[in-house]
Amino acid sequence: MKKISCVLLFLLIGASITWAAGTKKRKLPPYEFGSVTINNYSQQSGMPPVVFDHWIHRQYYTCRLCHVDVGFGMSAGATKIRAADNIKGYFCGTCHNGRTTHNKKAVFDSCAKEYSREAYNSRCVKCHEIEKSTLKEDQFFKFAQNLPKERFGNGINWEKAESEGLIKPIDQLEGVSINKAKLKIQPDFALKSKVEGMPEIIFSHKKHTVWNGCELCHPEIFMGIKRGATKYTMIELFEGKYCGVCHDKVAFPQSDCQRCHTKAVQ
Ligand code: HEC
Ligand code: HEC
Ligand code: HEC
Ligand code: HEC
Ligand code: HEC
Ligand code: HEC
Repeated sequence: MKKISCVLLFLLIGASITWAAGTKKRKLPPYEFGSVTINNYSQQSGMPPVVFDHWIHRQYYTCRLCHVDVGFGMSAGATKIRAADNIKGYFCGTCHNGRTTHNKKAVFDSCAKEYSREAYNSRCVKCHEIEKSTLKEDQFFKFAQNLPKERFGNGINWEKAESEGLIKPIDQLEGVSINKAKLKIQPDFALKSKVEGMPEIIFSHKKHTVWNGCELCHPEIFMGIKRGATKYTMIELFEGKYCGVCHDKVAFPQSDCQRCHTKAVQ
């Protein structure tokens, strides 16, 4: 590796560490990676904040289904979900309505105007979490133990888990998703990092489309007009733009340099 790129590399690793230290992004335990706290209205109405875990949900559903068809935003708190929406069958209530079945069992219901003490303790607190439960940790490790491992994030190689058929996330829900003709999958391509000696990035359209369809990336995150037309830098990625919209928060984190910078230096 060229000397100059080594220096830049260290600067960037430094930047990523400073970035992590300056924000809430400490290294999370694997069962907390991708956990989102939603608290626009809960506490002000006397309810504990809501905790949503991606690992529980992404084993069953694609990102596209929730973030396009159901309509959740791509940053914590952005959706402004109200209890009334859930009761009417939108947002969490799309599935959590006491009727939709999953593995032949009805998925538990979400918010209600009137409820008993018993319902509060058995149902409300599943989402409106009073305190961290070790039960969820145990469930996580039981789930993760048979899946391919990774070093960072959830400690799970989700891409492999899906391609090996160990999980089969659903992309369509009846009554929620509109059946559309699938767009032709674009070819994979390499992105050249602007620093000599830094391995190129292989971007797989195919692997991303499994989870994200096309609409989650185009046109909001990537204009997608022509590759190379938009220039992005590693600093912007650390700031949560472009690839960083997903990588760091839900998809494997950016500390895993080699997972993106894979192509050998020529
Ligand atoms: C499937 C998950 C889920 C369950 C179960 C659930 N809620 Fe909610 N609830 C939410 C979400 C998400 C919000 C929005 C959180 C926020 O922004 O603060 C919310 C918000 C609320 C609010 C805030 C006021 C408002 O107008 O939005 C109240 C009150 C509430 N829920 C009551 C309840 C009660 C009572 C129960 C049990 C009968 C319950 N919820 C069960 C997900 C759930
Ligand atoms: C079951 C539905 C569901 C699925 C499946 C799902 N998400 Fe989410 N996602 C949510 C909700 C709900 C939020 C919180 C939105 C809010 O607070 O407004 C969220 C938030 C996010 C955020 C912002 C997190 C933060 O801390 O700011 C990102 C990034 C994200 N999702 C990416 C993904 C990716 C990538 C996938 C697929 C691997 C995925 N989601 C699958 C429902 C889902
Ligand atoms: C696309 C369908 C879908 C949507 C949308 C969805 N969930 Fe779920 N959720 C499920 C399924 C399926 C399970 C697992 C089956 C079960 O536990 O009943 C689950 C499980 C959970 C659990 C674990 C409960 C436990 O203790 O075992 C929580 C908590 C939860 N969801 C919260 C939420 C919140 C909060 C939202 C909205 C912000 C939401 N979910 C949106 C389908 C969904
Ligand atoms: C994870 C994000 C992501 C997903 C999902 C995705 N793309 Fe892209 N796409 C990109 C990126 C990154 C580029 C490079 C151009 C840019 O930076 O805007 C690109 C470029 C393109 C281009 C220009 C190709 C070229 O050679 O210049 C087309 C056309 C395109 N995408 C179509 C699609 C279609 C159709 C789908 C669904 C089948 C899809 N994309 C899914 C991220 C994505
Ligand atoms: C819309 C969300 C999203 C965006 C934006 C995104 N990714 Fe991903 N990416 C994912 C998900 C989900 C996976 C599956 C693995 C995981 O969740 O850890 C993945 C997997 C990968 C993988 C491993 C699979 C493979 O191809 O070998 C690489 C490498 C990768 N992404 C690179 C990138 C790069 C580079 C960009 C920006 C040009 C990008 N991603 C943008 C969501 C996203
Ligand atoms: C999610 C995928 C991903 C991960 C993980 C990742 N990078 Fe990058 N990196 C990129 C992309 C995309 C570019 C921009 C390439 C382009 O536009 O041609 C880039 C560019 C770079 C560049 C070129 C200079 C610049 O700022 O554009 C360097 C150096 C670099 N990355 C270092 C790192 C280091 C060090 C790590 C680990 C701490 C890392 N990268 C992790 C995707 C990634």
